[in-house]
Amino acid sequence: MSTEPEKWILMATARSPTNIAVIKYWGKRDETLILPINDSISITLDPDHLSATTTVAVSPSFESDRMWLNGKEIALTGGRYQNCLREIRNRAGEVEDQEKGIRIRKEDWGRLHVHVASYNNFPTAAGLASSAAGFACLVYSLAKLMNAKEELGELSSIARQGSGSACRSLYGGFVKWKMGSDANGSDSIAVQLASDTHWKDLVVIVAVVSSRQKETSSTSGMRESVDTSTLLEHRAKVVVPSRIHQMEEAIKNHDFASFAQLTCADSNQFHAVCLDTRPPIFYMNDTSHRIINLVERWNQHEGTPQVAYTFDAGPNAVLIAPNRKVATLLLQRLLFYFPPPPENDLTSYILGDRSILHEAGVQSPKDVETLVPPPEAKDKVPNKRYAGDVSYFICTKSGKGPMLLTDEDQALISSETGIPK
Ligand code: DP6
Repeated sequence: MSTEPEKWILMATARSPTNIAVIKYWGKRDETLILPINDSISITLDPDHLSATTTVAVSPSFESDRMWLNGKEIALTGGRYQNCLREIRNRAGEVEDQEKGIRIRKEDWGRLHVHVASYNNFPTAAGLASSAAGFACLVYSLAKLMNAKEELGELSSIARQGSGSACRSLYGGFVKWKMGSDANGSDSIAVQLASDTHWKDLVVIVAVVSSRQKETSSTSGMRESVDTSTLLEHRAKVVVPSRIHQMEEAIKNHDFASFAQLTCADSNQFHAVCLDTRPPIFYMNDTSHRIINLVERWNQHEGTPQVAYTFDAGPNAVLIAPNRKVATLLLQRLLFYFPPPPENDLTSYILGDRSILHEAGVQSPKDVETLVPPPEAKDKVPNKRYAGDVSYFICTKSGKGPMLLTDEDQALISSETGIPK
């Protein structure tokens, strides 16, 4: 790095997780500030498998704010990016690095430009809440770069202005986004309910469902629901407040039966609200419905919930098992009904924590062929298998919140040129 005056580049790199809501956020009371009409609760997923990494750089030689997402330059002109940048700049502190001859005063941040490079370790096109991880990471890394000494709760309220669900990605474990009541949004923040070590046994399996259709974005979908669905009004006022309370209790007590029942019911009600919207919105497809049936049949057969399912604004299923033993049985069922397509071996079909394959006794495509239908399968109905209907599975768990990456090698921007490496 050059230490010539006005040539220096200062950088910070961070990694932030994505999250999956078990009590859903759907509907805003303020579109610009992104204030929701109900509280929501999520699980933060392990950043090793699903996260965004972001490097932010500042230099007097940068002529404008610029951003690259997964290697491609994108416009930073959107209101949501601008709001996050402005809010963080307003809270920027003094930064001094004597070794590098850098001194940035509080008031300098207003005229200094930033370069941002962000990368997701999972396909953006898979529709896996990439904006949640992305905005959480942008806000977190900018706060570090600019020495904004804000609490995570305050940072969550800035990330919220990038994308609502992003505010929940500022913490690990189980997180509640409190809707708040202030008109300026200052109390609409995320709080941690329990850390990632609280309910360590839970296993999460994401089924990335093949889809050819472009879904309605969450932003416009929820706007249409707020405008037209009376079920949403009832949900926000009556149903969610009591579910939030019950879900907090279930998490606190490791009560999987209640947790699963609430998670499935809330996902189903969210999709019912979508159907109640005019014109109706369909996020789930036939494969999503088959996964729900598989889980419901199994749960019914056992008499207690074995596994929970939840679906966001797309056809992908997020399945939660209470422990590895049940996750193994789940994976066997999933692979029975949704085997990899013939040309695909298991290495690109099961991603994330692949050690579970060993426990499931499924190591090769040949093992998948020999899987038998689960005991709860109705014998009258021929057991059809749906190769190709799931693109791949990701085995993961609950994880930690954002963290700073201090190793230069992990930076996405070159400290020489100030643009992506
Ligand atoms: C179905 O956070 O993507 O995933 O605030 O408009 O950016 P905006 O929406 P977004 O909506 C997420 C909706 C959901 C449920 C949830 O994550 O709670």
